[in-house]
Amino acid sequence: MLVLGIETSCDETSAAVLQDGRVLSNVISSQLIHKAYGGVVPELASRAHLRLIIPVVDEALKHAGIRPASLDGVAVTSGPGLIGALIVGVNFAKSFAYALQKPLIAVNHLEAHLYSGFLEAPQPEYPFLSLIVSGGHTQLVLVRSPFDHQILGETRDDAAGEAFDKVAKMLGLGFPGGPLVDARAKLGDPAFVGFPRTLLSVGDYDFSFSGIKTSVLYWLRRKKNDVGGSELTEDELNNVCASFQTAVVDVLVEKCARGIDSFRPRCLTIAGGVSANSELRRRIGDLGKRTGVRVCVPRMEYCTDNGAMIALVGWMKASAGMISTMELDAVAGMSL
Ligand code: KG4
Ligand code: ZN
Repeated sequence: MLVLGIETSCDETSAAVLQDGRVLSNVISSQLIHKAYGGVVPELASRAHLRLIIPVVDEALKHAGIRPASLDGVAVTSGPGLIGALIVGVNFAKSFAYALQKPLIAVNHLEAHLYSGFLEAPQPEYPFLSLIVSGGHTQLVLVRSPFDHQILGETRDDAAGEAFDKVAKMLGLGFPGGPLVDARAKLGDPAFVGFPRTLLSVGDYDFSFSGIKTSVLYWLRRKKNDVGGSELTEDELNNVCASFQTAVVDVLVEKCARGIDSFRPRCLTIAGGVSANSELRRRIGDLGKRTGVRVCVPRMEYCTDNGAMIALVGWMKASAGMISTMELDAVAGMSL
């Protein structure tokens, strides 16, 4: 079965072609226009998707070496995400599926992150635990079998990536903040400042990052007062980045450890932009070794937003007869 997957929920315009779950192409165009504004500007994202959607789909088909008529289905992210951005993808997919007279398959973006580990061998085995950490979401999910999942915990305030982005902004590093903090943290001392780890009570899998973020703000204010308003040195910046990152990663890893203890999954997967974090990858690997649970960390292009994961879940759903109608609408606030 040949499935085209289309993703336009945020600031990546992406299209991919999969054959029975195997990736033939995965084209991702990341919108750089938002950098100048220090965050994703929804209206600019929608306009960029409009400009990019046809060339990106065209390239995905060409790269896969197939003609549109050979497709067996068109899968698209219908939510959650930025409404204007989603509308571009959903309406393109509806038109394309209608013109080709092929099935249309709506895919939940978070569900797609959940199964992205299946894009690579060795694939996860059920039941598995999945940590979704992106700019908009932080969730720990137990997946018992296909489409049978239970959210164990989610963030009560900021998403993990959002905390990285906001702290980077406070430190004057730029956007997106995650990779910039990560790079500086490699050069810094993680014990420089003891930022709080919000672990909540035992048996609680929820997350909270606003406390850590506010502590960084207070630390910065105090520091600037002490030195009469002058800027941080390069060493201090690196040390704060390392201390902040370690605090966030400690919390993420501890929640995964609790999930492994309680539910004894066979695998642990991570997905979403923050799963690019080098410290998180290293520590999740260590956790796997310590607990004997196999860790599946897909390559980066499958961890961040991509069309391949949409086509994958589209294929799973189409195989199970879960097809959408032309009434399909984009929904900004959709849960897992
Ligand atoms: O999944 P994603 O590409 O987009 C959505 O939010 O859906 O995630 C983007 C987030 C941003 O907040 C970015 O700062 C963060 O992922 N991120 C990282 C790293 N690379 C990207 N956070 C920490 N360390 C990184 N290396
Ligand atoms: Zn995402």
